[in-house]
Amino acid sequence: MKIAILPGDGIGPEITAQAVQVLNALGESFEMEQAEVGGAGYAAHGHPLPPATLALAKSADAVLFGAVGDYKYDTLERALRPEQAILGLRKELGLFANLRPAILYPELAGASTLKPEVVSGLDILIIRELTGDIYFGKPRGVRECPDGPFKGEREGFDTMRYAESEIRRIAHVAFQAARKRDKRVTSVDKANVLETFQFWRDIVTDVHKEYADVELEHMYVDNAAMQLVRAPKKFDVIVTGNMFGDILSDCAAMLTGSIGMLPSASLDANNKGLYEPSHGSAPDIAGKGIANPLATILSAAMMLRYSLGKAEQADRIETAVKQVLAQGLRTPDIYEAGTTKVGTEEMGNAVVNALR
Ligand code: NAI
Ligand code: MG
Repeated sequence: MKIAILPGDGIGPEITAQAVQVLNALGESFEMEQAEVGGAGYAAHGHPLPPATLALAKSADAVLFGAVGDYKYDTLERALRPEQAILGLRKELGLFANLRPAILYPELAGASTLKPEVVSGLDILIIRELTGDIYFGKPRGVRECPDGPFKGEREGFDTMRYAESEIRRIAHVAFQAARKRDKRVTSVDKANVLETFQFWRDIVTDVHKEYADVELEHMYVDNAAMQLVRAPKKFDVIVTGNMFGDILSDCAAMLTGSIGMLPSASLDANNKGLYEPSHGSAPDIAGKGIANPLATILSAAMMLRYSLGKAEQADRIETAVKQVLAQGLRTPDIYEAGTTKVGTEEMGNAVVNALR
């Protein structure tokens, strides 16, 4: 199995090196090949997603991605900015399902802004559709309002739309992911107001007929937002559209209070995927050896589970991460009094030791 390693910028290379170290410690024979992406791609080859990097990503079974971006590239034209690499990879690889677990290890319950009893032990998965919805629907723009009470004024407008096949494929991803977890899916919509999301609800209900072993519940997005902060542990898998998912996944990430701990996956129709930490390139701490590598290490675990068919190895990594937290090891971003402060490499080494 071939894994493309794209470290990127800022802390990207530091955290990716630790995930590679952990993958190597599993005793599997992965073929890992590395390439430049983002600002590093621009610096080496004049483009954030150089052709050789894209070719490697396409030929691999999965992509492990660090992070891209640095303020020093802010003056570049948009097409050459580091962030274009991630958009280009999503498009070129057909990645339409964004999986973001929000997990709060009991040892880190103090990191959340919510009461420990509300969030301690939280383990939910938010699945956001990435290609459709109001973000890409046409027509869109600003025009002179053609009729109604605002006739003659300028108006801004966008189009919310979802094709049936887009809803079906994301629903399948959700039900299949639920089978690997607690077998419960909450589909979040606004079916009471929006035609698009009544259609969404009908199609998700239809796809559910193929998954009798998984429980399906429908919830309006406003209620879902409320429940996420009131009683987030009630959820298992949440599946929703692009815009609601954008908002709810950031909200869920913050329940845990520690961006350095959260992995993510973006999947195509054949379970090929790109795996990356939910955070960015953290230029403020790059090169200092203090970045938390656990989000990237946990992203590698997701890669084993969702793209490489190695769920047991994924479990091993996740157990090892729990062990190092139980040992009291903390990078500065999750440090609190009474624990042991460690750097990026020490944390990676500790996970490797826990694996053995
Ligand atoms: P960021 O996530 O890079 O950093 C936000 C804060 O969290 C910073 O204080 C940083 O030090 C801290 N942080 C992030 N990851 C950490 C880790 N593993 N360990 C310890 N602390 C960590 O977001 P920011 O500052 O908004 O963006 C910085 C750059 O990253 C920008 O160029 C942005 O465009 C890019 N970015 C890239 C993403 C990607 O590659 N997918 C996603 C988000 C931002
Ligand atoms: Mg967002």
